[in-house]
Amino acid sequence: MLKVVVLVSGGGTNLKALMDAIDDGSVKNARIVKVISNNPNAYALERAKDRGIETRVISPKDFESRGEFNNALLNELKDIAPDLIVLAGFMVVIPKEIVREFPMKIINIHPSLIPSFCGKGYYGLKVHEAALERGVKVTGATVHYVDEGTDTGPIILQKAVEVRAGDTPQVLQRRVMEEAEWKILPLAVNMIAGGEL
Ligand code: GRF
Repeated sequence: MLKVVVLVSGGGTNLKALMDAIDDGSVKNARIVKVISNNPNAYALERAKDRGIETRVISPKDFESRGEFNNALLNELKDIAPDLIVLAGFMVVIPKEIVREFPMKIINIHPSLIPSFCGKGYYGLKVHEAALERGVKVTGATVHYVDEGTDTGPIILQKAVEVRAGDTPQVLQRRVMEEAEWKILPLAVNMIAGGEL
């Protein structure tokens, strides 16, 4: 059974998609043992609690320096000793120490087709604003392993999504989530749990 930790910061719709897929059996052989948030107000925490999943808040505001926060996060993860760490809308850059402790054990969902609209500064709505500004006709989402760069790790899965005339960043974000993110994130976890990767 794959021991999974999910790191979140916000609404947690990707977390929901993963929990739903585990509950309905489309993701097999995986169990979410804990959900960790840097943001105490993340709705994702409520979603986890509703399913009886343990939660923990580790906020940078509770530490004197970034280094101390990074250490607290690293120590918490070491204690749990997960097989897989899923970044599901985690708005914190994962420090090198954590990447080195868990090589090829951290995956992230990014709301574009990497290598487009990724890297420093491309997060949340900014990704979709940039895609609309550039005028691409197809965008999508990517699940990738996390390495020491920003959105540079090996790609696991991608799914394309059509951009339509009149799309706003919000409308496009929602379509990318519904048609791509909520599908490929559980799929990637299932592949890892099934030993396909
Ligand atoms: C998603 O768009 C994801 O791709 C990005 O952050 C957003 C998280 O949304 N990394 P949610 O918290 O899963 O609803």
